[in-house]
Amino acid sequence: MSTPHNAANLGDIAKTVLMPGDPLRAKFIADTFLENVTQFNTVRNMFGYTGEYKGKKVSVMGSGMGMPSIGIYSYELYSMYDVDNIIRIGSAGALSDDLSCMDVVLASTASTNSNYAAQYKLPGTIAPTANFTLLKTAYDEAAKLGIDVTVGNVLSSDTFYSDDKDANDLWKKMGVLCIEMESAALYLNAQRLGKNALCILTISDHLYKNEELDAYQRQTSFTNMMEIALNTAINL
Ligand code: HPA
Repeated sequence: MSTPHNAANLGDIAKTVLMPGDPLRAKFIADTFLENVTQFNTVRNMFGYTGEYKGKKVSVMGSGMGMPSIGIYSYELYSMYDVDNIIRIGSAGALSDDLSCMDVVLASTASTNSNYAAQYKLPGTIAPTANFTLLKTAYDEAAKLGIDVTVGNVLSSDTFYSDDKDANDLWKKMGVLCIEMESAALYLNAQRLGKNALCILTISDHLYKNEELDAYQRQTSFTNMMEIALNTAINL
């Protein structure tokens, strides 16, 4: 079996999948952290790998950027490949004054300006929400690793370059921590399909402070997030 976007056969993919946006990051994780690795997908260069971390089976696959892209890949993983848990590992631009570059955020909920949930025809608005077991496990594993995390509401935006210059101020005023572009769709797919999702984010830029990461900081913060995600995956 396969799908239009994934060449894997049933059984090729672990119950827990880590999803960075960039497929080359998926390759980096497989090369750096996993043993006994096999590649299950190359369609559209959206590389996917299964291997072992500390002796337990884990998969890692790129999601692409934006809600339509992660929406497709995560839907197929959950509904066609029997995946139970997806942990997105991504970057985000900070809104909160309490955050700085390199900080790690666990998205307990994902607000959004996207229309993704319209497909469910709900008589109101649904709150896209992380799975509590994944969230608690990631929080506990981060503490064991000595990595501080901030837990809260993030914004999943349909635009990286927005014409609306007031929007960030309004979300910031509501206590939203940071902006990225995928979590809400992932959480909604998980909720609709009775599966589990969590997004772990590293702050790569601050939208209100003049901060940017250099190459070394980028790598270190990425490794921190990865270790939280991998240790969460094997402790579920
Ligand atoms: N906006 C949206 N997505 C992002 C950002 C941002 O500022 N930074 C990193 N991912």
